[in-house]
Amino acid sequence: MKRAFSLVLLLVIWLFVFSALSIDARKYHTKKTKMHKNKKHKNNPAPAPAPLPDSSVFSILSFGAKANGVSDDSKLIIIVLLLTKQALVSAWKSACKVIGGVVEIPSEFKFLIKPVTLQGPCMPNLVLQIDGTLLAPPKIGSWAKSNLYQWMNFKWLQNFTIQGTGTVDGQGSNWWCSSQVNKKKRAKKLPGIKPTALRFYSSYNVTVRDISIVNSPLCHLKFDNSKGVKVENVTISAPEDSPNTDGIHLQNSQDVEIMHSDIGTGDDCVSIQTGCSNIHVHHINCGPGHGISLGGLGKDKSTACVSNILVENIVMQNTLYGARIKTWQGGIGSVKNVTFSNIQVSDVKVPITIDQYYCDKNQCKNQTGAVAISGVKFDQIIGTYLVQPIHLACSSSVPCTDVDLISIQLEPSINNKHGFQQGLCWNSYGKSLGPLAPASMDYCVRSGSEFVKRISKSHDISCL
Ligand SMILES: *[C@@H]1O[C@H](CO)[C@@H](O)[C@H](O)[C@H]1NC(C)=O
Ligand SMILES: *[C@@H]1O[C@H](CO)[C@@H](O)[C@H](O)[C@H]1NC(C)=O
Ligand SMILES: *[C@@H]1O[C@H](CO)[C@@H](O)[C@H](O)[C@H]1NC(C)=O
Ligand SMILES: *[C@@H]1O[C@H](CO)[C@@H](O)[C@H](O)[C@H]1NC(C)=O
Ligand SMILES: *[C@@H]1O[C@H](CO)[C@@H](O)[C@H](O)[C@H]1NC(C)=O
Repeated sequence: MKRAFSLVLLLVIWLFVFSALSIDARKYHTKKTKMHKNKKHKNNPAPAPAPLPDSSVFSILSFGAKANGVSDDSKLIIIVLLLTKQALVSAWKSACKVIGGVVEIPSEFKFLIKPVTLQGPCMPNLVLQIDGTLLAPPKIGSWAKSNLYQWMNFKWLQNFTIQGTGTVDGQGSNWWCSSQVNKKKRAKKLPGIKPTALRFYSSYNVTVRDISIVNSPLCHLKFDNSKGVKVENVTISAPEDSPNTDGIHLQNSQDVEIMHSDIGTGDDCVSIQTGCSNIHVHHINCGPGHGISLGGLGKDKSTACVSNILVENIVMQNTLYGARIKTWQGGIGSVKNVTFSNIQVSDVKVPITIDQYYCDKNQCKNQTGAVAISGVKFDQIIGTYLVQPIHLACSSSVPCTDVDLISIQLEPSINNKHGFQQGLCWNSYGKSLGPLAPASMDYCVRSGSEFVKRISKSHDISCL
């Protein structure tokens, strides 16, 4: 009883201190901002960041956030968490109002943050400077049901940048346990939805650079309905056996560049979904994981449209797949103009894949109709494979057209325990150019007739 009372008292004191602090900080910043109103902070900093004008810097420490190194179950810490989220939102709201505002997460501190939405519209060139560590709540029970879609939700932003030397840690291990022992028992307790760590929604000209994103419960970095996205020099990592932990997930997004980054997780390094076009992925180290994938597209007879994708200069190590396109049977729409170029693979199970029979259970119903695939180049896919060099399983009803194999050099890895395996090739048409190894691949793509192209085109109408 006495203990409960003192906790309540503590809460009251905390809240009092917090509000006093944040009001002070806001006053202070408003005053200073007025003085420097015309000082514009330059977005797109050089490798060594220029000193920031402090008029526009809003550290969450000055908004009542208390940093704590280790998470703890005591009530006291829970109170602190609450304040941390509010401090972040308060700092955000202040920075949002000034040109080139900076929300600062200072280095050498760790902050536990409850699920939060940070939204615009804001003044141009807002920056979230993460130099410290942001931690997601590790206990599943502490996530509200309504907040399960993502941990940090960025929406309606323009010309916004996340950068810094810090780490965003999804602390996802409690969410992954369904893949281990006690599988059924624990899976029952898990909510049906798992949160993505960082999600951008309906945003334009946004950049994520330099930070590390680790151990998300589900996908690490997701862009939805966005245009003008740049991801650069980030590190994304989660254990190889953590389920569905995509590195970067793109959906309904255009004009995206992902480059110079290291990604190793339990699922796709980069996953490109329906509604994406003009996507350039280059200079990525990928592995462990499932490689770089388009799809699965066309699930439940849905329409999928993906076009103008360039994936080049990639190093893949120990991944399940390399360059992959996967669609469900029965889908509608098209995948057009996709190039995978200069992909170096080592110990990759299946480096080249088109799978139009994608199915996440033992067997899916056979369906006619498929997302039409045309204009796919596999160019300079070089290195070693573990199971099969190539697997092109195109739909029986809709052939893949203009699938070109160019300068492929694949040999079985010394760790290949299955011995040499032939590739699988079904209903794919196109050209093969340059030396191909294994040479049997030469027969993988047949030269396509106009008739074949017409069938493919007739399935493409829904994306025009
Ligand atoms: C975003 O930045 C670009 C390039 O710096 C600029 O052309 C554009 O006007 C800015 N948009 C907004 C809404 O600030
Ligand atoms: C995005 O950036 C481009 C070029 O930098 C600019 O032309 C465009 O206006 C920007 N869009 C928005 C919505 O800020
Ligand atoms: C990449 O990010 C790290 C911090 O994670 C930073 O130290 C380094 O300077 C960045 N490199 C470039 C080329 O920006
Ligand atoms: C194919 O995609 C690439 C890369 O996205 C783009 O540069 C090119 O213009 C596209 N080609 C056509 C014919 O649309
Ligand atoms: C689907 O078709 C394939 C090939 O014709 C056949 O082997 C398979 O058993 C069928 N699957 C189902 C679920 O009907």
